Amino acid sequence: MLRQVLISLCLIGLTTAAVTVDASQHCDCTELNQADCALALAWCLWNTSDAECQAYSLTCEDLTSQTLCDAADSCKWNSGTCEEWDPSCSDGTTAALCNDIDECYWNKSNACASFSSCADYAADNCPADQWCTASSGTCAAYTFVTCSSFTTAATCMGADSKTSSCAWANDNTCKSLGAVSACSDLNNFTSRCNSSGSCVYEGTACRAEKCSDATTEIGCNAIETGDTTYSLCTWSSTSGTCADAADTSALTKDNCYSRTFRNYKWSSDNKCVACDDLVDNDDTSNSVILGAFVLLALIA
Ligand SMILES: *[C@@H]1O[C@H](CO)[C@@H](O)[C@H](O)[C@H]1NC(C)=O
Ligand SMILES: *[C@@H]1O[C@H](CO)[C@@H](O)[C@H](O)[C@H]1NC(C)=O
Ligand SMILES: *[C@@H]1O[C@H](CO)[C@@H](O)[C@H](O)[C@H]1NC(C)=O
Ligand SMILES: *[C@@H]1O[C@H](CO)[C@@H](O)[C@H](O)[C@H]1NC(C)=O
Repeated sequence: MLRQVLISLCLIGLTTAAVTVDASQHCDCTELNQADCALALAWCLWNTSDAECQAYSLTCEDLTSQTLCDAADSCKWNSGTCEEWDPSCSDGTTAALCNDIDECYWNKSNACASFSSCADYAADNCPADQWCTASSGTCAAYTFVTCSSFTTAATCMGADSKTSSCAWANDNTCKSLGAVSACSDLNNFTSRCNSSGSCVYEGTACRAEKCSDATTEIGCNAIETGDTTYSLCTWSSTSGTCADAADTSALTKDNCYSRTFRNYKWSSDNKCVACDDLVDNDDTSNSVILGAFVLLALIA
């Protein structure tokens, strides 16, 4: 739930040397060995003829069967060739096709069109992302609640505006809570703090989670320090504690690449080292985005 933790909070947490990585980036394909390359299927493919991991860039035209073409999001098979496809609502000729097209909804007249009003939709095609809710068989506009009207933690729920929702506060009242940008925003909401996944309630305040909060090896991984950044943790089996990782020496050939969110690679001299070049994950330039299914079929 709590995605954004303030950068300022992160910087405070990083005064000690810790390994930080950015999950929005990945190692340049050419730096990877075959095993790591296989884990980078979204961007890289192993070229068996010259034993090298290569970035690939496929366009719809490269998909020569209808099955592969139609499995790719932005491609469509058209009389024997695979073409680029940017669907509009009018392409949604069935409810299922319509629901797959961004910003298009299947209405009561069995037409696919941009959003009009909640009442124009049947209950089973009620557009939740447009603040419509289906109840007793009809689709109607969401009714915003009044948080203060709820008197128990169990009934304190729902949205009271498009940007805030009800949360049970420490003074045992139901309050409106807007977007949470830092754990300290939850100082008066202990249960929300605890259930946020990235904050911990300690004493009288809600603070960002730390490596040392983890009490099991499996829970000792990384701490989210920003929208896409993480600080790595390391487990000590001698003391049974989790601490900030000072380096990546505890990582192995099997977990180096994945545990560093694809920022480090297993080197030829058997060390987990930072990649020389990182590439933005969404920098697919002119390549179509293909699922693993399509790629595995292409390699085979
Ligand atoms: C594999 O590498 C060779 C040599 O660099 C190249 O000619 C070939 O096109 C590559 N294969 C693919 C599928 O990219
Ligand atoms: C459904 O969408 C079509 C196309 O925009 C429109 O002509 C029709 O009036 C809509 N039906 C309802 C119930 O809103
Ligand atoms: C938190 O609760 C305390 C005591 O009820 C109150 O004085 C304070 O203003 C509250 N803080 C926020 C941010 O709502
Ligand atoms: C929240 O977590 C703290 C620390 O683990 C615990 O002491 C407290 O009881 C929890 N409170 C709630 C409401 O879950």
